[in-house]
Amino acid sequence: MRKTKIAGTGSYIPDKVLTNADLEKMVDTSDEWISTRTGIKERRIANKNEAASDLAYKASKIAIEAAKIEPQDLDMIIVGTITPDMIFPATACILQERLGTDKVASFDLEAACSGFLYGLSIGSQFIATRTYNTILVVAAETLSKIVDYEDRNTCVIFADGAGAAILRPSDDNSGIISSYLGADGEGANLVGVPAGGSRLPTSFETVKNRQHYMKMRGNELFKRAVKIMVQAVDVSLEKGGLTHGDVDFFIPHQANIRIIKAVAKRIDLSMDKVYVNLDQCGNMSAASCAVALDQAVRQHKIKKGDKVVLTSFGGGLTWASLVIKW
Ligand code: ACO
Repeated sequence: MRKTKIAGTGSYIPDKVLTNADLEKMVDTSDEWISTRTGIKERRIANKNEAASDLAYKASKIAIEAAKIEPQDLDMIIVGTITPDMIFPATACILQERLGTDKVASFDLEAACSGFLYGLSIGSQFIATRTYNTILVVAAETLSKIVDYEDRNTCVIFADGAGAAILRPSDDNSGIISSYLGADGEGANLVGVPAGGSRLPTSFETVKNRQHYMKMRGNELFKRAVKIMVQAVDVSLEKGGLTHGDVDFFIPHQANIRIIKAVAKRIDLSMDKVYVNLDQCGNMSAASCAVALDQAVRQHKIKKGDKVVLTSFGGGLTWASLVIKW
């Protein structure tokens, strides 16, 4: 089995900034509440004409350049998203055409906030088994399109962005050491979009009742997030034969600063080893870990040889944790 490394990363966040002060004018909330309860100060929002594939395209181009490859080198494209351009065709196919790759396998992966880490883990299997050599994993979200800007429970949290990574066989000892993926449909009703699928097709009624927008029971999720993320970190470390003390850098899903701090504390990690961008970027679901990874790489927060842990938790429920030797 071959080891898989991340050969290049890229990210893109839209230009338009939505601040807490802006949200104060839209719903009954305050900068003080949002800052203390979530840690978010501002978030980026796609414009009317920007869809997930547009964000994915920009992030992918940067990752392709960073990996020093050409689009024609790609053997597979995986797009993690819960806000695809449309129900079908897959956003990955739209991206494939736009990047001008060969006619390679391209598919969307829906694991909510865990979409990027699920994608890295799945993609790495094709490299380990020598099926493919070069895989693009991109997470792209335009959550502003499914958020109800009359619902203060959700509109203050979610945001738009995309992050991408190129997977290649490792030519040294670096690369993915272990990965752990999990899911629990018992919590499926805690966050999601009720209408627009086959259970409740879009109708005049569903639109009138605002069921085409995301609904979230944040407090219930909060209680599970810390416990599950800590467990996910522990399982992935154990699979790699590592312990808390071996972790050089931690990239958690960016849902809430209180969740991130509680997880860091329980895995004995000081906050200077933890990447946080939710103050500027909000919760970009699948794109959160992807954008954070690219930013951390570009800010030289991660050094060659570092053991980096990426961990996510989100709708489904889904969770994932990867340990990577950089
Ligand atoms: N501004 C002001 N008050 C608010 C706001 C707001 N934006 N939102 C809620 N409140 C109020 C509530 O109505 C409630 O008022 P009440 O006490 O009078 O009933 C009070 O604040 C407390 O509400 P809680 O929901 O208990 O607040 P909590 O401290 O749990 O914070 C939050 C809410 C930020 C959503 C938090 O629970 C959280 O981050 N949860 C985790 C979210 C998560 O991990 N989601 C999974 C990933 S998302 C995905 O998969 C797409």
